[in-house]
Amino acid sequence: MPAISLRIALAADLPAINSIYNHYVIHSTATYQTEPATVAEREMWFAAHGPEHPAIVAEQEGEVVGWGSLSKFHARAAYRPTVENSIYVRHDALARGIGRRLLEDLITRAQALGYHSMLALISADQEPSVRLHAAFGFAQVGLLREVGRKFDRWLDVIYMQKMLLQRGGV
Ligand SMILES: CC(C)(COP(=O)(O)OP(=O)(O)OC[C@H]1O[C@@H](n2cnc3c(N)ncnc32)[C@H](O)[C@@H]1OP(=O)(O)O)[C@@H](O)C(=O)NCCC(=O)NCCS
Repeated sequence: MPAISLRIALAADLPAINSIYNHYVIHSTATYQTEPATVAEREMWFAAHGPEHPAIVAEQEGEVVGWGSLSKFHARAAYRPTVENSIYVRHDALARGIGRRLLEDLITRAQALGYHSMLALISADQEPSVRLHAAFGFAQVGLLREVGRKFDRWLDVIYMQKMLLQRGGV
């Protein structure tokens, strides 16, 4: 299989990032967004992802085949030690180990940045995502019942958390 490399996302990657994400907006409960993200929305997202909250991409043969990010968990300042991660792999590049590489890299970055824990908010029906996070030591810490509705179905959300075991930190 051609090598997969990871790097920080650049502005030039935004169309590919958006296209990977919008597939899941339209076809999946992986995101509860129901209308495709616009380029302007993606630019705002990119502006909010600097060194403290990195966005990364996975490349294979020069194409962006997945992306991931660490985002603020909550706007209130006392939540600063906590980050929420997102990972999206291009729908035609699944099951090649790209999700695993992205999550591993995000955990390493979160530890290096001094965060205390990482959270993933996952639709309970998204078994690949639940299993991926569990494989990296995320544990279920919450279940919100029927908080979402998409494709005429009620959806539960699982909160999965990984403690990063920092003392002090940000
Ligand atoms: C979840 C997601 C990121 C996994 O990416 P991927 O590149 O296909 O995953 P990998 O090939 O790296 O597999 C890693 C692990 O994920 C789990 N997994 C992946 N695909 C799976 C599937 N179809 N069924 C069950 N588990 C699966 C397994 O634990 C797997 O480890 P294993 O191969 O040792 O069994 C991908 O399915 C995706 O982008 N989904 C839509 C967006 C999403 O749900 N993102 C996560 C929310 S933050």
